[in-house]
Amino acid sequence: MSIINLNLKDLLEFLTHHSCCSVMYLAFFMCLVLILLCFVMNKRSSCKVYLKDFACYKPPPSQKCSKELLMKQVRRMGYIPEEMLDFMKIIMEGCGLGDSTYLPEIFFKESYYNPSMKNSTREVEMAIFGSVDMLLAKTDVKSEDIGILIVNCCIYNPVPSLSSIVINHYKLRENIISYNLSGMGCSAGLVAIGLAKQLLQVHHNSYALIVSTESITGNCYVGKDRSKFFINCLFRAGGAAILLSNRPSDHKHSKYQLVHTIHTNTSTSDQCYHSIFREEDNAGIVGVTINKHLVATAIATIERNIITLGYLILPMQEKVVYIARKLLPSKTLSLNNIPNFRKAIDHFLPHVGGKVVLDQLQKTLGFSEDNMEASRMTLFRYGNTSSSSIWYELAYVEAKGRVKRGNRVWQMAFGSGFKCQSVIWRAIKTVDHDDYNPWADEIVGFPVILEDIETDPFSFVPSK
Ligand SMILES: *[C@@H]1O[C@H](CO)[C@@H](O)[C@H](O)[C@H]1NC(C)=O
Ligand SMILES: *[C@@H]1O[C@H](CO)[C@@H](O)[C@H](O)[C@H]1NC(C)=O
Ligand SMILES: *[C@@H]1O[C@H](CO)[C@@H](O)[C@H](O)[C@H]1NC(C)=O
Ligand SMILES: *[C@@H]1O[C@H](CO)[C@@H](O)[C@H](O)[C@H]1NC(C)=O
Repeated sequence: MSIINLNLKDLLEFLTHHSCCSVMYLAFFMCLVLILLCFVMNKRSSCKVYLKDFACYKPPPSQKCSKELLMKQVRRMGYIPEEMLDFMKIIMEGCGLGDSTYLPEIFFKESYYNPSMKNSTREVEMAIFGSVDMLLAKTDVKSEDIGILIVNCCIYNPVPSLSSIVINHYKLRENIISYNLSGMGCSAGLVAIGLAKQLLQVHHNSYALIVSTESITGNCYVGKDRSKFFINCLFRAGGAAILLSNRPSDHKHSKYQLVHTIHTNTSTSDQCYHSIFREEDNAGIVGVTINKHLVATAIATIERNIITLGYLILPMQEKVVYIARKLLPSKTLSLNNIPNFRKAIDHFLPHVGGKVVLDQLQKTLGFSEDNMEASRMTLFRYGNTSSSSIWYELAYVEAKGRVKRGNRVWQMAFGSGFKCQSVIWRAIKTVDHDDYNPWADEIVGFPVILEDIETDPFSFVPSK
């Protein structure tokens, strides 16, 4: 402190009494001090975290399900009340899903909808083992080298846990640090990245395996409450496995470096807390209620997240503009307040949610149709696969050959709570073609042109 005081005093003296030359000396000296300071801070700061690689599960073609086929299966299995079928059809038409998303086996193999634990376990195991096998094959990492394991699955939580299933199947080592994140919705995948990052600060020379998936099998809503019906329409099977590393030697062999993780939640607000809620309807049937405040809640939470992110990544000029706008009187947080992110980000990958959510986000952030392509195509091809959807999106831009060395990637996930997480990655290298990519054999067919159906599926009267 005293050094700085002294410097300031000197500076004043210089400015008043000395020639321009001395001022330059002083400036030079100050720069040196600054550089030294940065160096020291950098030394003390956390160790680097790399994304070595990731893999997305692609279910077998036998589980592909067009909207028409889904309606047919639903009628055949008879688990959805007759009067809800029209409503289901309307939602499905405007939700942005295409005709090749995947549903779990139970919808094809059984005549009745009577899901067992075994059926649900089978679904998650297919996604978990499918993606982890691929990841291990891709990266040549041995299962005994994995020191940290985080599995996230919102709605299906067996005992022993999903992380135990992974440890048992891959015979991971005994001292593995493992977590099961449950009930944390679509944003859990990035919550897991944030958790892994923190663990990697204290466990050096480690690999962290993260598995993000969701289970639909046992969670179809079979009642008549419209606000619980979206899960049946948008939600599809999928999963992803991600390998993080803090081994310095992995710098060369990794795809991305983790730059920022920003977590925001608005769970203290009752309205936000209730916006996505698993509960029973009046007839005692369990389902996930999505209430009409969802979009507003989502935007408000996302906005907070973005503001924090903005301070971290925006170029100085944008920051100044942004702060100036904020200081203007009578300015509440409004959508026009959002700074221009296109200057700081090369690939924007928001959770697919649904068409309405994506439309809103695009409007709010001022991203172009091109910027939204990965999300819209993922929604179209794979549906809302919950926490793993952002990985299908990243795979999409990679398959398109768009990820160049130094590019900045912004993955954003949001979901019940309400929570919003952003993660910023920097590409360490230009990503090459890769046969394991879930889009590899079909990427030339994308982007498809989507019909612009104006829908407002949230305009129903909520259950209470
Ligand atoms: C679902 O579970 C039941 C009971 O465990 C089993 O008999 C059936 O084969 C399973 N179906 C599928 C598609 O896994
Ligand atoms: C995960 O869940 C299983 C049982 O469901 C439990 O035994 C284990 O301790 C849990 N692990 C963590 C890290 O919470
Ligand atoms: C909720 O957000 C606050 C900051 O906005 C953060 O400090 C806190 O850790 C978050 N909690 C969870 C559970 O994410
Ligand atoms: C996407 O799927 C998840 C499943 O966990 C669900 O919670 C979320 O509400 C869905 N999004 C929309 C917009 O329906």
